[in-house]
Amino acid sequence: MQTIRENALQEINEATTLEQLQQVRNTYLSKKGLVSSLMKQMKDLSNEEKPLFGQKVNELKNELEEAYQIKQAHLQQEALNQRLEKERIDITLPATPLKVGQLHPLMMVWRALEDIFREMGYNIVEGNDVDTDFYNFERANIPQDHPARDMQDTFYIDMEHLLRTHTTAIQTRALEMYAPHLPIKVVCPGKVYRKDDDDATHSHQFMQMEGLVVGMNITLADLKGTLELLVRSMFGQERVIRFRPSYFQFTEPSVEVDVSCHVCDGKGCSVCKQTGWIEILGAGMVHPAVLEMAGYESQEGLSGFAFGVGIERVAMLKYGVSDIRQFYTNDQRFLEQFKRFE
Ligand code: DAH
Repeated sequence: MQTIRENALQEINEATTLEQLQQVRNTYLSKKGLVSSLMKQMKDLSNEEKPLFGQKVNELKNELEEAYQIKQAHLQQEALNQRLEKERIDITLPATPLKVGQLHPLMMVWRALEDIFREMGYNIVEGNDVDTDFYNFERANIPQDHPARDMQDTFYIDMEHLLRTHTTAIQTRALEMYAPHLPIKVVCPGKVYRKDDDDATHSHQFMQMEGLVVGMNITLADLKGTLELLVRSMFGQERVIRFRPSYFQFTEPSVEVDVSCHVCDGKGCSVCKQTGWIEILGAGMVHPAVLEMAGYESQEGLSGFAFGVGIERVAMLKYGVSDIRQFYTNDQRFLEQFKRFE
């Protein structure tokens, strides 16, 4: 018994792997192991000796079992430590940078413009890129065969349908949609199309945003205040605007709006061609004929203003982009530069 005990404890002690330890257990503590075989010797003992022997064998069994458990726990812990060490993650390594997308610069301007007007309680109305001659021209007070149509060389789809040449087509639809209710306060962003040859400042497809307010006693001063707020939000609080008389079929009077140059602060530079002013948009008081055609009966005090601003134009001025085609070629190196403006 003593030999078995010493050998077993030594072997348990010397086991360096769980497999080895298991073998030691099989040798000594399994059903057919050496400790069990000791029990079989009981039959050769006298009745007086039996209980003491049995007790001794049980003690031995318990002692070895305990030694085995302790060693097993120890080896398991060791194995776990080794695995953790092997699988250690170096959290100080720099991570692979994630490629995160961003808004297109034109979309940034689109949304910024929308935000300015949404804050002032305007609704946003969109239309269809394919519209009719009727809403694009007739309702904008530009009748058939009128020379003003030549200024906006048009992609016709058939005799009736066309790709809208300006967001004024959304304006005429919005008017009809709201008539005879007042007031109307909407902005209408969208793509427009013209048969232009593409170059640094022209594109056969670009984007505009139309503004339209109709109500009682709306004046040119309201238009001026609104546009002032628009240019200050986009180009800085120091900006001022000026109106130059102009002509559009759908407004009377019509104005061309200039903003003081945000690059040189009006002193004169290459961006404003040394004039201190940059032409930014067209606007005016909605022509009574346009209101009438849409379903508003003329009445004392009923008036409205409208304006149309080019989204590419604003983006080019705001970000100093000199070629409109860069917005459409989608060169990553170009687009990524706008991340910081988001
Ligand atoms: N529709 C004009 C254009 O595309 C822009 C414009 C001018 C819109 C004056 C307006 C306006 O609403 O009042 O050139």
